[in-house]
Amino acid sequence: MTSHYTNTVSAVYLLFCLFITSASSSSFIRQYTDDFNTNIQQENRARVNPIQGEAHYLHKHQQISSRDNELSASNTVTKGLRDRPPQSYSLKMESFNTLLKSTTERYETRPFSAAGYNWTLVVYPNGNKNDNGAGFLSLYVTIDNSYLPPHQEVYVDLRFYVFNRVEKKYFTIQGTNGWRFSFFKPMWGFSQVIPVSTFKEPRNGYLYDGDHCEFGVDVTIPSVFQTSELFSVAEKFQNPRFTWNIRGFSTLLGGTYYSDMFSVGGRNWNIQVNPSGRASGEGKALSMYLILNANETLRPYEKIYVRAKLRLVNQRFTFNNIERQIDHWFNGPGFGEAFGWGEHEFISLSDLRNPWKGFLVNDMLVAQVDFEAVSSTKYFPN
Ligand SMILES: *[C@@H]1O[C@H](CO)[C@@H](O)[C@H](O)[C@H]1NC(C)=O
Ligand SMILES: *[C@@H]1O[C@H](CO)[C@@H](O)[C@H](O)[C@H]1NC(C)=O
Repeated sequence: MTSHYTNTVSAVYLLFCLFITSASSSSFIRQYTDDFNTNIQQENRARVNPIQGEAHYLHKHQQISSRDNELSASNTVTKGLRDRPPQSYSLKMESFNTLLKSTTERYETRPFSAAGYNWTLVVYPNGNKNDNGAGFLSLYVTIDNSYLPPHQEVYVDLRFYVFNRVEKKYFTIQGTNGWRFSFFKPMWGFSQVIPVSTFKEPRNGYLYDGDHCEFGVDVTIPSVFQTSELFSVAEKFQNPRFTWNIRGFSTLLGGTYYSDMFSVGGRNWNIQVNPSGRASGEGKALSMYLILNANETLRPYEKIYVRAKLRLVNQRFTFNNIERQIDHWFNGPGFGEAFGWGEHEFISLSDLRNPWKGFLVNDMLVAQVDFEAVSSTKYFPN
């Protein structure tokens, strides 16, 4: 026994040396050093599983690790109840008391396949003493590491289940962080799932119909998003202001007039003016809008957020501009609510034509926009 351990330790040490030579950052080395020390300590305490003889998935240098011992600020263990049964594997036992009373330390299921790997579910009826689990029910999952290259880590989300007959629901336990399974750490789980005394008390619902119970697990490999978007808002512009001097205003007929195109925040814009009004302003007010230039193209579902001030400049009384705050999402170029923003009744025609009001001077009207923010969205893949 002792010599076997020594051999394994040497093998592990050799692999460890390989890690050191290939690792470049010192923190990486330190991490493995720490793990390595834990490996040795835990290994010395490891026992052969009497119920199965030698579990071929678990090499002698296996590390037993549980979240209960490694709780960090960034990982929270969540316990709850749910209706849905386990997805990956279920283990029903009909003589749990026999196990509790026996010297059996652990029960390990046959391998099951999930997320592209083979796993076993491991139950410690009286807790895994090597992992601070004495007096608790401990649940673990082991990965079949026979094909795992030593450097490969398999990042896994685990959710363990214990059926509760009283609630008719599954008690669940999971962590916010995933587990990193590897050749050296093929077994992860919770050493303190439920106190054995709680578990054994029939009115709590975990042991029912004599001594039946059910355990389960979900093994999922979370996939990382393949598509994404990046939304950003620009608030500094080289030329945030565009001014449109509309000369010979009285010669304009009804209908729609556009300013020259101007560019702010990576997009082209126009000011639109309807001198005799449109929609609710028709015949009684001048309508004015900020619109996205007709040649701008937006991707499906793309929207542009704009914050700006749209105004008619008072050419006589500096502080009497008519100004409207724009705070709007543009859905595309063109007309209508989604495409432009402004007022059907920006200024009444009577105010506009009244020379004392100061908006028409020498037959010129001055429209202006000041941009404060324009958003853009990048999509990946493009
Ligand atoms: C899972 O187990 C099956 C049956 O033993 C085996 O054929 C397969 O290669 C294993 N898969 C992995 C990824 O270990
Ligand atoms: C859109 O582009 C075409 C071709 O460059 C141009 O003729 C047209 O005036 C543009 N439209 C607007 C509203 O700027």
